[in-house]
Amino acid sequence: MAGSLSVRSLYHRFFVGTPALPRPLLRQLATLDHDQREAVVAVHDGQVIGLAQYVRAPDTRRAELAVLVVDAWQHRGVGRRMVSRLATLAARRGITSFDASVLPENQAALRAVARLWPGAAPRPDDDCLHYELPTFLLCR
Ligand SMILES: CC(C)(COP(=O)(O)OP(=O)(O)OC[C@H]1O[C@@H](n2cnc3c(N)ncnc32)[C@H](O)[C@@H]1OP(=O)(O)O)[C@@H](O)C(=O)NCCC(=O)NCCS
Repeated sequence: MAGSLSVRSLYHRFFVGTPALPRPLLRQLATLDHDQREAVVAVHDGQVIGLAQYVRAPDTRRAELAVLVVDAWQHRGVGRRMVSRLATLAARRGITSFDASVLPENQAALRAVARLWPGAAPRPDDDCLHYELPTFLLCR
């Protein structure tokens, strides 16, 4: 996955200029407990092409959502499928909403949120738009 990401996609995901996946992310993936911290990956031909994660806020029913799809696979339904699966897993574990932060310039992510959660209204939060997104709406 690492070699298939543009600087722009990495910036939209991590909100800082980074040439590669940051180490804390790799540590997070190595310590998934499938309850407080979960990830769903999309794989094609043995290569990871997408990653969706949540990290639960301690002692709450909320979790931070983050999604990353390699550039060549963006806008082909990968993000939508991963987020739907992740929301189903989260809801089963008592997580009622995802918190998601999106840069205002990130039209793809803004439209993806609007497609998955029609009517979701963001509130400005520092330099980001912040959403609170109910997990049950995507449960299957
Ligand atoms: C944002 C992101 C996760 C979306 O994932 P994706 O797999 O590309 O999105 P999908 O193909 O599932 O599209 C879902 C909806 O989003 C919208 N969308 C996605 N990419 C779009 C684009 N480039 N332009 C316009 N709309 C777009 C569409 O409405 C689409 O639904 P539709 O095709 O049925 O109309 C992906 O573009 C990405 O990884 N970007 C870089 C990292 C990032 O921005 N992460 C989000 C912040 S954590």
